[in-house]
Amino acid sequence: MASLFDPITLGAVNAPNRILMAPLTRGRADKGAVPTAIMAEYYAQRADAGLIISEATGISREGLGWPYAPGLWTDEQAAAWKLVTDAVHAKGGRIVAQLWHMGRQVHSAVTGTQPVSSSETRTEGQAHTYEGKQDFEVARALDEGDIARILDDYARATKNALAAGFDGVQVHAANGYLIDQFLRDGANKRTDRYGGSPENRTRLLREVVERVIGEAGAGRTSVRLSPNGDSQGVDDSNPQAVFVPAAKLLNDFGIGFLELREPGPNGTFGKTDVPPLSPQIREAFTGPLVLNSDYFDRAEAQAKIDEGVADAISFGRAFLANPDLVERLRTDAPLNDSNPRTWYSQGPEGYIDYPRLDEAKAA
Ligand SMILES: Cc1cc2nc3c(=O)[nH]c(=O)nc-3n(C[C@H](O)[C@H](O)[C@H](O)COP(=O)(O)O)c2cc1C
Repeated sequence: MASLFDPITLGAVNAPNRILMAPLTRGRADKGAVPTAIMAEYYAQRADAGLIISEATGISREGLGWPYAPGLWTDEQAAAWKLVTDAVHAKGGRIVAQLWHMGRQVHSAVTGTQPVSSSETRTEGQAHTYEGKQDFEVARALDEGDIARILDDYARATKNALAAGFDGVQVHAANGYLIDQFLRDGANKRTDRYGGSPENRTRLLREVVERVIGEAGAGRTSVRLSPNGDSQGVDDSNPQAVFVPAAKLLNDFGIGFLELREPGPNGTFGKTDVPPLSPQIREAFTGPLVLNSDYFDRAEAQAKIDEGVADAISFGRAFLANPDLVERLRTDAPLNDSNPRTWYSQGPEGYIDYPRLDEAKAA
């Protein structure tokens, strides 16, 4: 039986343990979506992770509406990311870039253009902008020409990620963002070949993954899905009917790993009564399966591996607040709590100052 501390091959990436860092938006880039120096320090502090999945990173201005989030559509952004990947590699770590198009979850005050989505819809609630929160706007439905352009954006961002020294890329197809807005029938009302049947709703995912693999190879490509329950207003009437075929098509591509974010009924960052689909997805996807949400101790994470459902676990808030999470889990040491007030604030506070065990002891 595998232990959390055993190595695992994730496609072309050899991870020394099964404790992955989940993608975490932290808002520490500049207004041009260019990574800053403290980002290199933050990620290097967490280089003990089996693999770091970067914060969601925009493939284009159209697709990036989160204030101070980074991008990968310009050479300047890629050059700044190189300082991050170099710092992680110098500490013996590995890092892949999570590629992001937010679809309708943006505001034109940040992107400069009307939000886009599968259909002409509007998210309930308010978007983060540089001027505070503002009501979401009605999205424009993408036409086939737009989709071709977005596929090019994914290919360019992948090329830039590799040039920036990333060990691979993760396609962000979860959490109610653009690809999820195509996958799930609560947001996708299209009547063309991108809407209706599960096969049509998975078409954008398939085309994106095809283009990313074309640049990076399947072994350096991974995908994140959030199959169960509402994610930021995006939901499906029959998740199994679309996500099991989606997992099957990713299996056929031979991607490096598939990560599932599956909150439970008592989740502390999103919760749902819709049961997780990981048991069914496990049948359809035979590569490494990484599970996420609400793992805060070794026993729970190990139990999921022992059950045979997961090959590795990704930790979000626990890694955010514990740079030495691997060591803490190994020794069953208590964890620092993360402070939500500084999750997305700029600057070093609540970012690079969470203490390691040895620092806490010395203090
Ligand atoms: C501050 C913060 C930022 C996040 N940013 C992202 C992101 O950029 N991409 C993503 O896929 N999920 C993001 N998530 C979701 C996490 O990856 C993860 O699914 C969630 O925190 C639940 O896992 P945990 O219980 O281990 O924290 C974020 C969560 C938090 C708390």
